[in-house]
Amino acid sequence: MRAVVHDRYGPPDVLRLEEVERPVPGHDEVLVKVRATTVNRTDCHRRAAEPFLWRLLAGLRRPRRQILGSELAGEVAAAGPAVTEFAVGDQVFGLNPWALGAHAEFVCLPATGLIAHVPPGAGFAEAAAVCDGGLNALAALRRAGLRKGQKILVYGASGSIGTAAVQLARYFGADITGVCNTKNIELVRSLGATRVIDYTREDFTGNGQAYDVIYDAVGKQSFRRCKRSLKPGGIYLATDGWQNIARSLLPSRSGHKKVVFPMGQYAKSDVLFLKELMEAGKYHAVIDRRYPLEDAAEAARYVETQQKTGNVVLTVHS
Ligand SMILES: NC(=O)c1ccc[n+]([C@@H]2O[C@H](COP(=O)([O-])OP(=O)(O)OC[C@H]3O[C@@H](n4cnc5c(N)ncnc54)[C@H](OP(=O)(O)O)[C@@H]3O)[C@@H](O)[C@H]2O)c1
Repeated sequence: MRAVVHDRYGPPDVLRLEEVERPVPGHDEVLVKVRATTVNRTDCHRRAAEPFLWRLLAGLRRPRRQILGSELAGEVAAAGPAVTEFAVGDQVFGLNPWALGAHAEFVCLPATGLIAHVPPGAGFAEAAAVCDGGLNALAALRRAGLRKGQKILVYGASGSIGTAAVQLARYFGADITGVCNTKNIELVRSLGATRVIDYTREDFTGNGQAYDVIYDAVGKQSFRRCKRSLKPGGIYLATDGWQNIARSLLPSRSGHKKVVFPMGQYAKSDVLFLKELMEAGKYHAVIDRRYPLEDAAEAARYVETQQKTGNVVLTVHS
């Protein structure tokens, strides 16, 4: 099968399309014929080993996993003997967060993992782009205990996590302020933000407003800058930065403003929850650009501009 592989860390040029062996599903695994996948920021961090500490996860000298790609949608091509939930031909989508391997024509993942049937009416590209942003944002908003009527500011509301966060915060009944660039104002409003601040014209930290939750969905802010815009007991939700991880581990006195860093601990029930929201028309993945699998390096270059709106999809089997 064709796959995009890398055997050393570096810029997108280290990616190359190669013929590799098709994986064989284990006892409890499905083999998925990939129809669409994404290039996300985690793929780029892993490929570049930036920040350097990624090497602790991905391999000290060289990448242990040569094929990137965590998100996917496609058709079940084979199933192990213990699989009861899926059959050959089923359309599925999901996330393979640690084993990766979706930048390929076929990938195996456990049937009990983060995988579900594609909702009726959703295309493969849209389904492939649901999980990374959606599961991250869901975990974060749950950790913050976001409730109906609370005020949340989503900084970087036009990214993969940001577009998911705005839609999920709307579902939870929060009052949402989105922050993005001029070109994305209408999109962020359409996703559910009551107010949208254009960061090229206004600095939200100086406008006198205070929020229950500030979600830095793009890793460009800091707790220090945001603190005065948080209500007493307010939560700064971080997506990035070792200093935020460290800070989130420090004990904080009850009622004090604090940093929360949700680590990627997801359950299959979360994927099913996103699927239900899609079916109810309350959630969709925003797609910016689509590239064929062989242009994965070009897609990665675009993702690394940090200017994508929502998600970047790779189409595999068309
Ligand atoms: N914690 C985890 O498990 C986890 C998992 C995945 C990703 N992440 C991290 O989460 C962060 C976001 O990931 P993502 O995939 O959602 O990002 P993304 O889609 O690449 O974010 C791109 C968006 O960021 C906006 N942006 C760029 N610079 C900005 C700025 N200075 N101020 C405000 N917005 C800005 C851009 O909007 P405009 O075009 O409007 O400027 C663009 O729409 C990344 O740092 C990633 O590494 C964490």
